[in-house]
Amino acid sequence: MADTLRTLAGIAEDLKAVDLVVENIGQLCTLDAPELDGQGPRRGNGMNVLGLVPDAMLLLGAGRVLATGTREEIRGELSRAGGLPATVKIIDAAGRAVIPGFVDPHTHTVFGKTRQDEYERRIQGETYLEIAAAGGGIHSSVADMRGRSEDELLELTTERLREMMAYGTTTVEIKSGYGLNLENEMKMLRVAGAAASAVGIRVVRTCLAAHELPVEYRGRRGDYIRLVTEEILPRVVSEGLAERCDVFCEPSVFDLEESRKILKCARDLGLSLTIHADELESFGGATLAARMRADSADHLIKIDEDGRSALAASRTVAVLLPGTVFSLGLRNYAPAREMIDQGCAVALATDFNPGSSPIRSLPLIQSIACTQMRMAPAESLVATTLNSAWALGLQKETGSLAPGKAADFLILDSKDFRLIPYFAGHNPVKRIFASGIEITA
Ligand code: NIG
Ligand code: FE
Repeated sequence: MADTLRTLAGIAEDLKAVDLVVENIGQLCTLDAPELDGQGPRRGNGMNVLGLVPDAMLLLGAGRVLATGTREEIRGELSRAGGLPATVKIIDAAGRAVIPGFVDPHTHTVFGKTRQDEYERRIQGETYLEIAAAGGGIHSSVADMRGRSEDELLELTTERLREMMAYGTTTVEIKSGYGLNLENEMKMLRVAGAAASAVGIRVVRTCLAAHELPVEYRGRRGDYIRLVTEEILPRVVSEGLAERCDVFCEPSVFDLEESRKILKCARDLGLSLTIHADELESFGGATLAARMRADSADHLIKIDEDGRSALAASRTVAVLLPGTVFSLGLRNYAPAREMIDQGCAVALATDFNPGSSPIRSLPLIQSIACTQMRMAPAESLVATTLNSAWALGLQKETGSLAPGKAADFLILDSKDFRLIPYFAGHNPVKRIFASGIEITA
C-alpha cells in the first residue's frame, strides 16, 4: 500500500497536541505533495495531483493540521504513542469527502447597491462598456459608495461573506476601488477587515484605488495618479489597511506606463502586487505582471502568446474569472486549457462584484470552468484552493491540508470531489471548519 501518512515532526511523541480528530473520511483530498510544493504554484500535470487518501483520518491541534493518513496508518501511530487523550473531540465524516477550504483570490465584496437594472439592460442587448459610458458601471457604484455609512456597508458585507462561507470559502481577498478618494478607499478597506473578523473568514485586503479615473479627475489623469501614489497608497500602508495593490490595466482605464508607475510605488511601500490584466483587450498586462513579479495577473480573457509564455516562465499565478463571461452573457472565456498545457499556474476566483460577476459561489465557478473552459474537476479544485492561496501569498498558511497549515477544511455532502462541479448551482458543502473552528453559516 502506498505510504500516505504525513505528520508534523514529533506528533507521535506528543499526542497532547491533538484536540480534534476527523474520522471515517471516505475520500481525503489533502492536495499535499511535498515533492511539488517547493517548486511554486502547481502547473501542468501538477494541477491534477490531489494527494488523495481513501478511508482517511485527520488529526488537528490548536487550529493546525497535525497529521493525515489512512485510518490504518493513523491508528498505528496512535497505538504506538499510547492513544489519544480523552478530551479530544471526534468528528465523524460519515464516509464523505474532505477537502481544503476554498480560497477566493479576487472579489469586490464591499459595495452598496446591486445593479440588476444593468443586468436586465445587457440581456436586452446593451454591452458592459456602453452601460459604463452612459453613467452606469463602476462610476455608479462609486457614487453610491460615497453616500453610504460604514455601519451600513459593514452589515451588507458581513451578510455577503456569510453566504460565501456557506459555499465553502474560508479565505477571501477583498478589494477597494469604489471609493476613488482617500476617505472612501480607506472606508472600504476598514469595512473589509471588520466584516471578515465578524464572520471568522481569513481576509487579504487589496487597495484598488486605480480601478477607474474618478469623474472629478477627467482631463487630469496625472493628478489622480499622484493622488494614488502620494496620498492614498502611503496612508493605506501606514494605517495597515491593505496587504496588496491592484490596477485595472486596460487602454481605456490605466495604460501600461500608468499601471507600472502605481505598482512600482506600491511595491516600494511593501505591498504585494496584482493586476486586472488583458480583460477587454490584449494589452500586455500579463507580461507586465510577470515582469514586476506580481503574485497574480487576473482576468486574462484576451491574453496573447507573449503573455502566456511570460506567465508560464514566472511564479505569477493566472487568476481566471469565468463568472464575468458567464454573467455578462458572453462566450469568450480565457484560454484556460491552453494556459495549463503551456505551463501557466492557473487559479480561479469569483470576482464577486455588483456589475460583471454577482456570483459568490466557488463551486459554481468550478462548474463553469469545467464545462466552459475544459478544466478537469481536479484542476478546478487545485485552482480554487492551493493555487489561489499562492495567488494571495498564503501558500504556507492555507490551500492544502499539509501538516503545519491552518485547519481550514470542508466536509462535503458526497464521497467524491468531482460532484462539486458536476451538480452545478448546488451547495456541496456540509460542514465548514476555519482554523479548526466549525462555522455555522
Ligand atoms: O473585475 N474589471 C473591472 N472591475 C470589475 C467590475 C466592476 C464593476 O462592474 O463594478 C471586474 O470585472
Ligand atoms: Fe475584478
